[in-house]
Amino acid sequence: MNMTATDGSAIQAHGGDIIKANDGSYYWFGEDKTGETTSGHFIGVNCYKSSNFATWESRGAVLKPQEGTNISSDSIVERPKVIYNDANDEYVMWFHSDTSNYGAAAVGIATSKTIDGNYTWIGSFKPFGNDSRDMTIYKDDDETAYLIFATANNANLQIASLTSDYYNVSEAQYTWSDVYWEAPGIFKIDGTYYLLYSRQDGWTPTDNYYMTASSMAGPWTDSVLLAPEGTYAYNTQNAYDITINGTESVFYMYYGDHWNAPNLGASSYSFYPAIYNGSGLSLHYTGGWTLDTETGVWSDLPFDTITAANDSSTIAPSSALFECSGCLGGKTVNMTAGSTFSFTWNGSAGEKVLSLQYVYDGGKQAWKQIGVTVDSVAVNGVALLESTRGTTVYLEAPIPVTLAEGSEVQLKLLDYTDTAVLIEGVKIYEA
Ligand code: GLA
Repeated sequence: MNMTATDGSAIQAHGGDIIKANDGSYYWFGEDKTGETTSGHFIGVNCYKSSNFATWESRGAVLKPQEGTNISSDSIVERPKVIYNDANDEYVMWFHSDTSNYGAAAVGIATSKTIDGNYTWIGSFKPFGNDSRDMTIYKDDDETAYLIFATANNANLQIASLTSDYYNVSEAQYTWSDVYWEAPGIFKIDGTYYLLYSRQDGWTPTDNYYMTASSMAGPWTDSVLLAPEGTYAYNTQNAYDITINGTESVFYMYYGDHWNAPNLGASSYSFYPAIYNGSGLSLHYTGGWTLDTETGVWSDLPFDTITAANDSSTIAPSSALFECSGCLGGKTVNMTAGSTFSFTWNGSAGEKVLSLQYVYDGGKQAWKQIGVTVDSVAVNGVALLESTRGTTVYLEAPIPVTLAEGSEVQLKLLDYTDTAVLIEGVKIYEA
């Protein structure tokens, strides 16, 4: 969902990474896409700090545009990944460094003595002289670091080890040819590497997969789905994969981007537990969960469900309500121009997150907006519904609200064209 920093600003940290610093805090780096409707501008790499993954303090932009260079405001700086170089006591940031039409296809490097910057741009170059677009950096337990990058015009994915200062590639380790994969990331679980990736389709979510190997040089297994086929990793694309070594358990967290291509600045983030069951990995889909970063123990948040079939729900016109076997509560609302789904909230007062359970079978990168009123007053913002493109798994669209006991809540589709949105119900989480 969209997230807010402690100063009230919207978190802008897309395509980034989250690392634990020596002070025990977590730092999240990512692309600032404020106000962007398309790519082609470098605004900055932002940094946020947290101890609990729930509240994030903005540390500002740690890498800013430098006019007349390869990181000018007309350039592309994507997928920034920061790692710490122990020997040099230095933080090194790698990123996809490009011209606004993705023609330069290089990597860029910037360094800082302190984790939250400012980072000094060292340069941009083509690894081994080859093009590079989507990429990640992985630092192994033995401090060897790797660049994993899409090359050969995105056809190939290559793993290369880095030099010990992390300023350059050193040796190619493994290459997949003719695959068109993007968005790589690594978990290391019980000594086995799990390489996550998405298929290439611009900003449109695709299914994400993983492969495993006991060495970065391979051999790598075949690809395995990370989430059910056709859910497109719950409409996300892998950004970074974080391991939290708690006192009670090791927790694996998937950080995905939920890109909004027509309105890139409104793209949001999806953090999901990645569940390792002893032999494989899968995303745990949930509308809300909580983590104790000390112990590594996580749990789903409890929620109340109000379905279209509930006694407290009113659907107008009544002809918009349909029987639906397999739906939450067995009914769904066909939201078109003017139809409304209202319900009375009989639970406790306070800040909540409404999570709309919806199916919207639009095209690629088609979006709809649901406006919410509470006691006839419009709530700030909208619930953004991305086309589920025929998937059978219900997606959830969150929107924060403040409810009183007995509040009347009303949902309305704000931008009906020709494809209806089906809403089966609302899950209500404590904020
Ligand atoms: C994919 C990549 C992003 C970005 C877009 C541009 O989604 O993963 O980093 O390059 O394509 O279309």
